[in-house]
Amino acid sequence: MQIIKRTTLKQKPEKGERLGFGQYFTDYMFTMKYTAEKGWHDAKIEPNEPKPFDLATSIFHYAQGIFEGMKAFRQPDGKIGVFRPNENWARMNRSATRMCIPNFPEDVAEEGLETLLKLEKDWIPTEMGTALYIRPTIVATRVMLGVHASTEYLFFIILSPVGSYYAHGLEPTKLLVEDFYVRSSIGGTGEAKCLGNYAASMKAGELAEEKGFDQVLWLDAAEKKYVEEVGSMNMFFRLGDEVVTPALVGSILPGITRKSCIQLLRENGYNVSERRVSIDEVIAAAKDGSLKEAFGTGTAAVISPVGLIRYKDCDYEINGGKMGDVTRMLYDTITGIQYGTLPDKNGWRKIIG
Ligand code: COI
Repeated sequence: MQIIKRTTLKQKPEKGERLGFGQYFTDYMFTMKYTAEKGWHDAKIEPNEPKPFDLATSIFHYAQGIFEGMKAFRQPDGKIGVFRPNENWARMNRSATRMCIPNFPEDVAEEGLETLLKLEKDWIPTEMGTALYIRPTIVATRVMLGVHASTEYLFFIILSPVGSYYAHGLEPTKLLVEDFYVRSSIGGTGEAKCLGNYAASMKAGELAEEKGFDQVLWLDAAEKKYVEEVGSMNMFFRLGDEVVTPALVGSILPGITRKSCIQLLRENGYNVSERRVSIDEVIAAAKDGSLKEAFGTGTAAVISPVGLIRYKDCDYEINGGKMGDVTRMLYDTITGIQYGTLPDKNGWRKIIG
């Protein structure tokens, strides 16, 4: 793969510096172009520098774009570990199909990622809880204002050293159940990781933050009855001896951490259900004490305990506002596999370099 080197490198964050989420970017990026004539072509590594775009470029107008979130972790022997990258490429191509973007060659994306990570290895932070966040993205680049699928695209991968997604780290989050705005509906784009889903969620997110909440817990669009997801996380509830996560009905992102947690829970003998779960069922369980735990899962959020849910102006504390045992077990297992401190029985850890 072609590598275009830069003459000066950027200043890396100091060791131990608070990284936050997505504030620093590495020296290089992977790019690949698509045109109707040539298909996907010109895969290369180049300096990560601002690019000039015509303001009529279609991504700016109609948001025909998709992305993924992955992480690279420093292993105890200094190598690089990535968690289930093939799952991300497969999901990205499903998102592409939904958004009329031509499917890309997954082997070329993987080769680009591996070359990029080897080049940027020194940017992988070493402290526990930190990682090099990987953001593969495809945007429509044809210069035109007609509302049609573009005939030109740019695929890029940028890298960002990150700490925890929430400023308060592993402290349980507070969620506001949103019963007016909706994130997605069946038939919409909710199960694709497309740019517009995130823009559409911002209004409710801001209103929730103004009230002191971390995130919005979305309900289904048709009845405002069933729990969907959080936007940056899939949700799990421990209701008595059942661990429940909302079924993937078409409006929910099929999370890779979600899928991994379901498998780990089953392997550990838990009774796990993927089914529709109504907010009334969750609130009734909170009232009668059978809601033992709630947590969210995601690449950025990892496993995040939920300590409080507000629904229709009433607050429901969960597990005394503390992280529960199942949440802890999943957090320890997933991060142990990611950081290479636990055996990887399922072959989820891809070692590079
Ligand atoms: C991720 O977890 O990687 C996400 O894409 C969620 C969010 C940061 C947009």
